[in-house]
Amino acid sequence: METQTRQPVFYVRDVPVYGDLMLAPMDGYSDLPFRALCAEFGSAMSYTEFVSVDGLSRRGEPDEITARKLQFDAREYPKVIQIYGHDEERLVESARRLQDLSPDIIDLNLGCYVRKIAERGAGSGMLREPGKIARVFARLTRALHVPVTAKIRLGWDERTRNYLEVAHILEENGASLIAVHARTKAQGYTGSADWNAIAEIKQAVKIPVIGNGDVKTVADIARIKAQTGCDGVMIGRAAIGNPWIFARQDREQIPPAERIALMRRHLARHLEFYGARAGLILFRKHAYRYVQGGRGAAALRHALMLCDDLRAFERLLDEYAAELNAYAPICQDSPIVLE
Ligand SMILES: Cc1cc2nc3c(=O)[nH]c(=O)nc-3n(C[C@H](O)[C@H](O)[C@H](O)COP(=O)(O)O)c2cc1C
Repeated sequence: METQTRQPVFYVRDVPVYGDLMLAPMDGYSDLPFRALCAEFGSAMSYTEFVSVDGLSRRGEPDEITARKLQFDAREYPKVIQIYGHDEERLVESARRLQDLSPDIIDLNLGCYVRKIAERGAGSGMLREPGKIARVFARLTRALHVPVTAKIRLGWDERTRNYLEVAHILEENGASLIAVHARTKAQGYTGSADWNAIAEIKQAVKIPVIGNGDVKTVADIARIKAQTGCDGVMIGRAAIGNPWIFARQDREQIPPAERIALMRRHLARHLEFYGARAGLILFRKHAYRYVQGGRGAAALRHALMLCDDLRAFERLLDEYAAELNAYAPICQDSPIVLE
């Protein structure tokens, strides 16, 4: 695979990373079936969806939903567990216990913008307390034997873009990598990611920096690398329904039959992982993103989103496959819209 080289592209402390593209942690999407699929295509690090340390018991045992988020497939390497929380004691103790699950890396989320998380001082809320970041990282890196990393935003809002201060604090307190979603908390997903800020961070620290935000195409991968000098490129929304991006192929390049075949394979893994009913329901949002371009795509997406019967779902896919084959030249030329 093109992105997989024998030589590590960079190291997270002593953990080798064999590629420069990685699937972003995405709650509700970057579960084991999707991560394993993306790993096949070249995603070179495997981040869990974020896991609240409050979803772990005091003894570090996860509830049922959290336990599922913490499972990995043998194909995934390095395995990164991403946690979030506001309570220092609980963060450190939980991270320590999570090592029993044999992750290769533990990552702390300093970027989540969801109000009920950020306003409690977790996720991007921690960016408002650089002193707390210093304390937490100093303690985490002392307490854990695996490398500890951070995923940040640029700051709380436009007036407090403290990303350079935070990057220095992270490095000084033992963090082994910084992934940067180049927006502030206040921006949410509005405006565009400020890749120049990623370049500034890359210049400011010696640890690896991963650039993230608005990478939608293979051409964007080259652009963000050239503009920032980042060690790796993290791709989130544009990978949904489009794992080919990790093999540096844009979706339009993929023959329709291959697209449908992969979608079916992804569905099969979902059913296996979540069970038949939940597996289908949870797959629908992926299906929505696989089905792009071609005649009848909008109507099919709508039908798939409402479908809760596996046979009917598969029939819809058969019809779509027949449609795509009949109109293959049209589909391959049709623009892909990132929603
Ligand atoms: C549905 C969704 C869920 C997300 N969940 C997480 C998460 O659990 N942890 C995290 O660090 N970031 C999360 N993010 C942010 C992404 O990791 C990424 O930083 C962001 O989407 C920008 O990258 P993109 O432009 O490639 O999508 C999430 C984003 C989306 C769209």
